[in-house]
Amino acid sequence: MCGITGYVGLRSAAPLLIAGLEKLEYRGYDSSGIGVLPADHSKIEIAKTPGKIKVLKDLLAANPLPQANLGISHSRWATHGAPTKSNAHPHFDGSQKILVVHNGIIENYEELKVRLQQKGHKFLSQTDTEVVPHLIEEYYRGDFLAAVQKALKELKGSFALGILCSDYPDTLIAARLGSPLIVGIGKNENFIASDVPAILDQTKKVVYLKDGELAVLKKDSVAVYDLAGKKVPLKVDTVKFSVESVQKQGFAHFMLKEIHEQPDVVGHMLKSRVCGDNVVLDGLSLSDRQLKKTLRIFIVACGTAYHAGLLGKYLIEKFAHIPVGVEAASEFRYREQLVDKNTLVIAISQSGETADTLAAVKECRNKGAKVLAVCNVVGSSLTRESDGVLYTHAGPEIGVASTKAYTAQLTMLYLLALKLGDVTGILSKGEQKSFISELKRIPEHFREILKSKALIAKIAKPYAHVGCFLFLGRNINYPSALEGALKLKEISYIPAEGYAAGEMKHGPIALIDEYRAVVCIAPQSEIYEKMISNMQEIRARKGKIIAIATEGDEGIVAHATNVIYIPKTHELLTPLLAALPLQLLAYYVAVQLKCDVDQPRNLAKSVTVE
Ligand code: G6P
Repeated sequence: MCGITGYVGLRSAAPLLIAGLEKLEYRGYDSSGIGVLPADHSKIEIAKTPGKIKVLKDLLAANPLPQANLGISHSRWATHGAPTKSNAHPHFDGSQKILVVHNGIIENYEELKVRLQQKGHKFLSQTDTEVVPHLIEEYYRGDFLAAVQKALKELKGSFALGILCSDYPDTLIAARLGSPLIVGIGKNENFIASDVPAILDQTKKVVYLKDGELAVLKKDSVAVYDLAGKKVPLKVDTVKFSVESVQKQGFAHFMLKEIHEQPDVVGHMLKSRVCGDNVVLDGLSLSDRQLKKTLRIFIVACGTAYHAGLLGKYLIEKFAHIPVGVEAASEFRYREQLVDKNTLVIAISQSGETADTLAAVKECRNKGAKVLAVCNVVGSSLTRESDGVLYTHAGPEIGVASTKAYTAQLTMLYLLALKLGDVTGILSKGEQKSFISELKRIPEHFREILKSKALIAKIAKPYAHVGCFLFLGRNINYPSALEGALKLKEISYIPAEGYAAGEMKHGPIALIDEYRAVVCIAPQSEIYEKMISNMQEIRARKGKIIAIATEGDEGIVAHATNVIYIPKTHELLTPLLAALPLQLLAYYVAVQLKCDVDQPRNLAKSVTVE
């Protein structure tokens, strides 16, 4: 969702700010803007527009901003008010001295707006953000920092802010409460950004601001204060991932690149997390004794991570006999959470910034449950709110549709289920050993599947014009069906439903005719014959079928229009292998339809508001 960049230094700010916004495009947005303050100029100049950053660039090419070494910029994903020029950030106060960019939601903005309007403040937008510069203006008596500090105390909700004041042509103020914001430390220059990729080609030294912290940046200094206004020591971290990891490296899209990274991602995870025949879960922060006492597990997550969680339930219940509830965090947070100190809550999130997941975790912790995060982004909010963290270390995921983060989450859940199976004694050492040896072959199987991508592209072609898709799977591949449908609808906009195949007769079968397609996930398994029956029922109604089947299963050809094969593996591991053809199928359908694969309309990479 919304992106922020800010710069103070010796170089020209505008090109750096725009380049930073371009690196954040993956987060999803529908308008953008920039504001700069030239040193010899007491006036802040801005430009903003609906549409892509390219539109902003064209606008700036036609009407360049004055040369400046200080500025802020923003890409907005509309929440309060349509994606129009007046709602785009940055926003001014009434005197046009204070300029603000904001991510998150100011929950008490209506009450603040009424109060400020009564004092004569005039608002030009429908945004919640606009109250922030007006509130700072209200407190401004010549001391920029003091005015911001006073205003912050009145804001409720979640925010990351970048703020300029025209009386301070050398200063950029940043503040964070609930929405991610980092400070990048350079030589004679400093940056702010809502995510690391925005500044990675400028600096790898970053300060991850904590909730309630405010930073004052000048070209050669950064000072951080807490909510009470007390200076806090600067903790500078070095970002581990490389500039290349956030570049396409010759692939047509980030999504395709990230699909191809999966053998390495899972390979690295297994190398670092499996020692001989034992699973090593550094970061778990729960002793075997504590794990043994776990009577119940809840998995909370959103989107693709929720689908990973659904598989987690099958695995943990099978390997460790601990009952597992899985729920979308947005639902879980608002109902009676029956958790206590013997409950383990597993929160799964690629970004670690998803608002609903964070809120669910906070509720559960308040009730005494232990929270374990399965997360990709180091230092994210979720990791700070959890008792233990299992990092997936999948590297930056830029494509909005999650691919490598998903298979990394699945892999972590296999490992965690194995660990729980070991601790509870339900899984024998022999069973663990043979399962681990199959798990270790997954990267090689992934490579095999990727070799068939040209075939999948060919199969996908005629399906691009099908009006609606059903994805069917059973048992452990029911979550695969849900994820396959989500991938397709996210990036191709074709309506797609994921269903447990056994439920087909209870409704979805009514959809089937020669114009609809059904993807049947049918690897060799205990319930293979049941899937074949479903396929026969679909064929009888002229539905087109793409089957995902186990290599060597020639019999399935008679029941399907097309077959995509995955290598033979342990039945419980088939969801990992099925994920890749499903991702590739969605990808090639979307490419065929000329959709914006990496930045699908209306979607955001991390949903930081409710
Ligand atoms: C958004 C993204 C999805 C992602 C979901 C949860 O909807 O578009 O790809 O699965 O958020 O995000 P998280 O970062 O918590 O995994």
